[in-house]
Amino acid sequence: MQETRTVPAGPGPDVGNLTQFEYLALNSPLNIADAHARQELTAGQARIIDDLPNLFLKAAELPVEEVEREAHRAYFGLLGQHSYPGDDGRVLACYSSSVAMEILARSLAGAMSSVALIHPTFDNIPDILRGVGLDLVPVAEERLGEDDLDDVLGSVGCVFVTTPNNPTGRVLSEEGLSRLAGQCAERDLVLALDTSFRGFDPAGHYDHYRVLRDSGCRWVVIEDTGKLWPTLDLKVGWLVTAADLGLPVAKIYSDILLGVSPMVLALVQRFSEDAADGGLADLHRFVAENRAVVREGLAGVPGIHFPDPHSRASVERVHVGARSALEVWSSLRDHNVYVLPCQKFHWANPPEGNSTLRIALARSAAPLGEATRALRSVLLAR
Ligand SMILES: Cc1ncc(COP(=O)(O)O)c(C=O)c1O
Repeated sequence: MQETRTVPAGPGPDVGNLTQFEYLALNSPLNIADAHARQELTAGQARIIDDLPNLFLKAAELPVEEVEREAHRAYFGLLGQHSYPGDDGRVLACYSSSVAMEILARSLAGAMSSVALIHPTFDNIPDILRGVGLDLVPVAEERLGEDDLDDVLGSVGCVFVTTPNNPTGRVLSEEGLSRLAGQCAERDLVLALDTSFRGFDPAGHYDHYRVLRDSGCRWVVIEDTGKLWPTLDLKVGWLVTAADLGLPVAKIYSDILLGVSPMVLALVQRFSEDAADGGLADLHRFVAENRAVVREGLAGVPGIHFPDPHSRASVERVHVGARSALEVWSSLRDHNVYVLPCQKFHWANPPEGNSTLRIALARSAAPLGEATRALRSVLLAR
């Protein structure tokens, strides 16, 4: 498989997708490319890992339904999502949010030909939607809470929003979601949300399920435990649907999987409880400190700025001024430091990302500091 994990070596218009860039970084200690959580475990989290044999035995003994219910209660409760539909099989556990996305995309493809999609966003979302034959209409993220989206909504069957967005960290406010859901209800469109980065920003902790339910629209939410905690990719992507969605999501889910390991669900439950017990506030502090490490470490470099001053997501964009982000990426690679060039986030217009890099903040302070120093020296040399 290794030989498929390549992107073109030098700058050029046909660069690989973001995950291909992330593959290249996987073996470097200075990998600040992917947004998976790779920092050290906290003391509380380390105690849970020490208890893994017990967790395994407990997960094996209990009825799966009970393990799932407890994991839902802990995770959705932690993030303020109290109105999630826990009682009637509408929270489907997937191995990852991309698997949830694939199931959703296949469900949409039988019912419509085009989807309005937030722009920019992580490129595996447009890639999965296009992969099932759907046409995409870009909607700038700052437009999504607006009253009048007639020009976009008239031609699509679904609106797909990543909130908080990756890479910008922008959150759709409660009022914005309510307005958008109202417009979707009027036009009988499906409103789909990817909330993978929800845990990082309290602005995303209002009860989305209440707003969606009250709007009367047909909705789907993809939740993701995978970005929050350093669980070595033991994670769940939850595919949550409205009762009247009218799409064959449950059938397509059953075409693909039976369920997620109860061990992983039990782990998510324990990490959620630890987070509720102070771990989430610690995580928010940790990400904020790492953001400061990057911003302070690059302070005074001519021409650069940080386009997302209010972001609380575990990623930070850096605008590199007149330099080419791909060339900076390439020079950093000579130092064994890996970041992400942002073109592919701008899936409808990649040149918009020519001058931005994305840095992952869910890393221990030492490698993040070292990578930031390398970035500073590369930027100063250009
Ligand atoms: C917003 C968003 N959704 C989904 C995914 C896919 O996550 P996974 O690789 O765990 O399926 C990513 C990956 O970074 C993402 O940023």
